Amino acid sequence: PKRIVVLISGSGSNLQAILDQTLEGQINGTIEAVICNRPGAFGLTRAEQAGIDARLLDHKQFTDRESFDAALIELIDSYTPDLVILAGFMRILTPELVRHYQGRLFNIHPSLLPKYKGLHTHQRALEAGDAEHGCTVHFVTEELDGGPLIVQAKTDILTDDDEQSLQQRVHQLEHQIYPLAVQWFCAGRLSLDQTGVRFDGELLPASGYQ
Ligand code: GAR
Repeated sequence: PKRIVVLISGSGSNLQAILDQTLEGQINGTIEAVICNRPGAFGLTRAEQAGIDARLLDHKQFTDRESFDAALIELIDSYTPDLVILAGFMRILTPELVRHYQGRLFNIHPSLLPKYKGLHTHQRALEAGDAEHGCTVHFVTEELDGGPLIVQAKTDILTDDDEQSLQQRVHQLEHQIYPLAVQWFCAGRLSLDQTGVRFDGELLPASGYQ
């Protein structure tokens, strides 16, 4: 089984979706630790309840991003992970950290990348009058929310949608595609090279698996 470390900042519902699949055996991996930068985040409680190491690394205890990320790398590496998963980890990463985990660092983002990098994605999709919206799992590279796409899921935007209804629907989709991408990686089906993402050895289109 692959060794997985999950980084969170909040509720950890994506963590839960992935955790459930490791326990049920769909994912050939084990979550070795959950690391969180925000005291009191519910995701830490989820980890504790599952008997997983729940580690708080509060960025406010560090003077700058470089020293926080150096401590984060040391903590992550103490678990010797095959895969590091950002699941609502709301921190910008240093290039050093990203390079260190190149090819084994996943993120999920609540938009159809490359659209709407950054924050407030649901509101921005609504304001733009988009017909559809969704979420993306991608490999992390040095460009913020810019790494090669692995898988996307879409939903139609309905005429009576507001930010909350849309956010909830996209969150449900996240809980489907994030465990799926982790399943693929842990089964040895996904890899990253200079040309892009390979799935069973075949190059995926730039838009990822749809
Ligand atoms: C998710 O919607 C995820 O896509 C988003 O944070 C939420 C975490 O929810 N991530 C980002 O916006 C990254 N820029 P969760 O804690 O319930 O999994």
